[in-house]
Order: sequence, then C-alpha cells, then structure tokens
Amino acid sequence: MTEWHEKKISRRSMLKMTGIGAAGAIIGASGFGGVMKAMGSDLTAPKAVKNSIAFYGKHQAGITTPSQTNVYFASLDVVVTTKKEMRELMQLWTPMIEKLMAGEEVATSTNVHIPPNDTGEAEGLDAKNCTITIGVGPSLFDKVGLTAEKPREFTDLPHFPKDQLDPAYTGGDLCIQACADDPQVAFHAVRNLVRVATGKVEVKWAQAGFNAFPPGGGTPRNLFAFKDGTENPVPDKEDHVVWVQPGESKAWLTGGTYLAVRRIQMHLETWDRTSLQEQENTFGRHRDTGAPMGMKDEFDNTDEAELPATSHVHLARQTKARMLRRSFSYASGTMTQTGAHDAGLLFISFQKHPQQFIDVQNSFGRLDKLNEYITHRGSALFACFPGVQKGSYLGETLFK
Ligand code: HEM
Repeated sequence: MTEWHEKKISRRSMLKMTGIGAAGAIIGASGFGGVMKAMGSDLTAPKAVKNSIAFYGKHQAGITTPSQTNVYFASLDVVVTTKKEMRELMQLWTPMIEKLMAGEEVATSTNVHIPPNDTGEAEGLDAKNCTITIGVGPSLFDKVGLTAEKPREFTDLPHFPKDQLDPAYTGGDLCIQACADDPQVAFHAVRNLVRVATGKVEVKWAQAGFNAFPPGGGTPRNLFAFKDGTENPVPDKEDHVVWVQPGESKAWLTGGTYLAVRRIQMHLETWDRTSLQEQENTFGRHRDTGAPMGMKDEFDNTDEAELPATSHVHLARQTKARMLRRSFSYASGTMTQTGAHDAGLLFISFQKHPQQFIDVQNSFGRLDKLNEYITHRGSALFACFPGVQKGSYLGETLFK
C-alpha cells in the first residue's frame, strides 16, 4: 500500500473495509450499549491506520507515550452507585476507546430518524496519535461500595502553601485524559465518551491544553517561553518511577500509576515586566537554549552550585522524589475579577505514589521564586488502571 493510500484511509472507509458499518443497522433496536457489545472486539482489531497508538498493552497509553500537541482533560463525577454499574460503564467505554484511538467512528449510523451514533466532528481525519487514559479519584470508592479497595496512600492531595484552589477545578471521581495531535480529535473523544454515559456520569470540570513542538521535534516551551519537560525519567529505563510494582499498593493498581493534575495560572502580565536575568534565575535555566545555568546545551548536566537557591529547579532537586511530567499550556479567556489572562499550565505528572508529587510540591513550599508568577487554581489526583489485554476491559482488576 502506498503512503497516499494510507492517508486516504479515513475513519469511514476503514469502517467499511472492516464491516463495522453493518452494525449501524441494529443500533436503533438495541441501543448504543447493546451495539458496542454486539460488535465485539473482533471487529476492532488493530488496523494499519496512520498515526495511531496501540490501545492494548501492559500500561494505558497517554502516559509514557510521547506527548501530543493537544489535550482535553475531563474530570467527572459518577451518578452510579454500584460496582456492577461501574463495570458496565467500563465495558461500554473500552471498545469505544479502542476505536477512538484507531481513528474510527465509535459506531456508524444508517437510521436517519435517530441522532447519529458518532457526533461526527472527527470524520475524515486520521487517528492523530489519539490516546485516552482513564483514572479513578479517591472519592469514587465509597460511592460505589469499594471502600475496601481504596489504597491507603490514595487521599486528596493536602493543602499546599499558596494554594488558591477553585472548587470548580478541583477533584473528581473519574478522569478522561484525551490527547491527540489535533484539538478537535481530543475533544471529540471526551464528548462521545461522556455522551454515551449520560445518566451515569456528569462532567465536573474540563480543560483543553496545547503544546507547540519545534519542527523536527524537541521540548515544547511553556507560556513563560522556557522549555518545559527537559528533565524527565526515561520511561523504559526508569519504570520504577511511574508504574506501581507488584505488592506496592492494592493488587488492582499493579502496572498502573497516579496522575496528579494542577491547573496553574501563570501571571503573564507580571512575567512580561520581568527582566530576562530574573526570569532565568526563577527557573535556574537559560531561556533560549534551555540549558541549566552556567551550561551550554539543554541536556547538559545540572551543576546545582550554579543555581539560585530558590530557583524552581534547585528546589525540585532538594528531594529525591521523581515523576514523569507531561503538561500542557492553556489559555481560556480572562479572569472575571481582574481581566488578566486566564492562562497557564495544566500540569500533569505521573508517579507510582502520590508522595512523589507531594514531596516536590512541599519542597517548593513558600520558597520557589516561581510562586511570584503563578497561582495554583485547580487540583486533582487519580489512579490510572493498568493497561488492557485483548478480551478484557479497562479497570477489570478493580470492577470484576
Ligand atoms: C506553572 C507551573 C510550572 C512551571 C511554569 C514549571 C516550569 C518548569 C521548567 C521550565 C522546568 C525546567 C525544565 C525542565 O526540566 O522541564 C521545570 C522543572 C521541573 N519542574 Fe516545574 N513547572 C511548574 C510547576 C511544577 C510543579 C507543580 C511541579 C511538581 C510538584 C514541578 C516539578 C518540576 C520538576 C521535578 C522539574 C525537574 C527539575 C530537575 O530535576 O531538573 N513543576 N519546571
């Protein structure tokens, strides 16, 4: 098959080739959930779709997957009250997520008398490296009768100095992190997952985010123009930083990870009145190259003696705790009170224990020079299930 042919395989033509189109005919009769089950996983076998990330694996995608340009992050509250209903929700979502990550419609429609089964705005696009990562919040367990399965370490993040959290961006029973190299593909994924779960979940808060990669790749810059994501564990070599190992938590979380998300406003107006020297002192890195202070290249070793004691990087290194940072910038209009930009960083980190995040954030405490320029406005912690094997479903280890 030529590259031209591969590009031409759109969501719809892929469905036709695999015969899923026929399933549309039964949607009216059995409802959407019934159809997803009726279609089974054979019809969703991985295809040679351009720009798609594998759904099945030891771990969920969207964690160590190289970052895409866009995220749509949704925090949900559940309306359901039993483990069985949670299992049914995950069984409904799993084949949909596989399709969304393969760049396919969640189901085709032939009946013009009912609303289309896929909302349709991703039609004609390829998979755009879409990944969908699902996690559960600490508040879920009591609500669905799973109190005994809640890991001891899994509580809401503590209050940190200088936190000004808005309840409108805090907490949640479930999360959907949809990433893609296209904002509409990421949004489409969340929209369709939420849509089929009407009456089972409600969106508590959501945030879109973006990253801009230089041509040919490299570290994206945050809205303060500094390269963000340079110092990160190498996934394959430093597995123990991110993935819960056997015996380290409740058995259902082995192979999973904790996702910490913080909606951090960055005061762009103040930053833009700050000298370059002071900006560099704030992070302990040079703006243009991303190199640690006193060094030439981005990935040169950091000499901690060269860094201001209250710089962000120096303080992050005062604890041995490590994490995988996978953040996105956001720009969401203006703050109603001040008219300032409501813009900043949707900070996302993955670690096998919440304490890793807590230790670093406590190390910043009131000292971090960056505090002058940022305010934490939102916060949540989720436990992301391990990956899915064929014939299984997301969260099976917890909801079976
Ligand atoms: C708006 C808020 C933040 C901004 C703008 C920001 C920006 C940066 C930048 C530019 C770097 C240096 C380059 C790099 O290695 O990526 C950095 C490093 C780092 N940041 Fe942040 N950061 C923010 C919040 C946080 C938070 C909330 C945490 C975790 C609690 C965190 C943890 C780290 C860590 C662990 C490093 C690596 C330090 C090292 O070992 O070199 N950051 N951050």
